[in-house]
Amino acid sequence: MIETYLITGANRGIGLEMTRAALRAGHRVIAVCRNPAGAATLGQLQSDHGVRCQVTAADVCDAAALAGIAANIEGAVDVVVCNAGAMSARGGIDDLGNTVDAIATVLMTNMVGPFFTARAFLEPLRRSAKPRIAIISSLMGSQQHTAGAAHFYRASKAGANNLMVTLSNELKVQNIAVAAYHPGWVQTDMGGPGADLTPAESAVALMARFRALDLSQTGGFFNYDGAPLPL
Ligand SMILES: NC(=O)c1ccc[n+]([C@@H]2O[C@H](COP(=O)([O-])OP(=O)(O)OC[C@H]3O[C@@H](n4cnc5c(N)ncnc54)[C@H](OP(=O)(O)O)[C@@H]3O)[C@@H](O)[C@H]2O)c1
Repeated sequence: MIETYLITGANRGIGLEMTRAALRAGHRVIAVCRNPAGAATLGQLQSDHGVRCQVTAADVCDAAALAGIAANIEGAVDVVVCNAGAMSARGGIDDLGNTVDAIATVLMTNMVGPFFTARAFLEPLRRSAKPRIAIISSLMGSQQHTAGAAHFYRASKAGANNLMVTLSNELKVQNIAVAAYHPGWVQTDMGGPGADLTPAESAVALMARFRALDLSQTGGFFNYDGAPLPL
């Protein structure tokens, strides 16, 4: 079935490859990024796929910009993929990168961004026969982890997972399924060149997860390969 995906952070990394994978599969994509003018590869995908690939600008911390995109959508959005994300200072308690501004950025982007995104696109989701919200989280946000670093990235993803559970509780009566996904350790600007998976491998696996997402999985946290993960 041909569907419409809305993907944030679509200009590079996993978001770009999810956009490419969705287009290859014949779907329509509304690709959201902060700076479309600087997104050359995404622009090429738009040229290659024409009206099936719409590129539009928003910061996920800007609720009004997201609402503006939603107001221009006439049809349904079937899958909202909250992918945009930022890393925090990666060190321990002494890391001087943990400034007020840096902490605000990572919490706003990774935790509040998915909320603003889900909220903005509720109306087009309600027009779908099988509406789904997928939050790209991280195993680093699991409460079961044993590491002692990257405090605010972990906290932001734990917050995103908690938000996912609340959204799933609230939206299941509207038939909207919500789940969070760990994309694997992926070779992107965030994951670094030594990571396990290419962005394309992660993206193709995640697309299979989004196809399978329904109300039986709502509220769940899943690995890119489909294995359930502890929140
Ligand atoms: N790579 C990994 O190993 C890994 C592991 C676990 C989870 N994840 C998660 O997977 C998702 C994608 O990560 P990635 O590896 O593809 O990272 P990436 O290559 O660093 O790309 C991050 C993307 O998020 C966008 N972004 C950041 N802040 C934004 C904002 N405020 N508004 C809109 N877009 C924003 C970036 O846009 P700009 O180009 O404008 O900055 C970029 O498109 C993230 O949520 C990340 O936390 C990644």
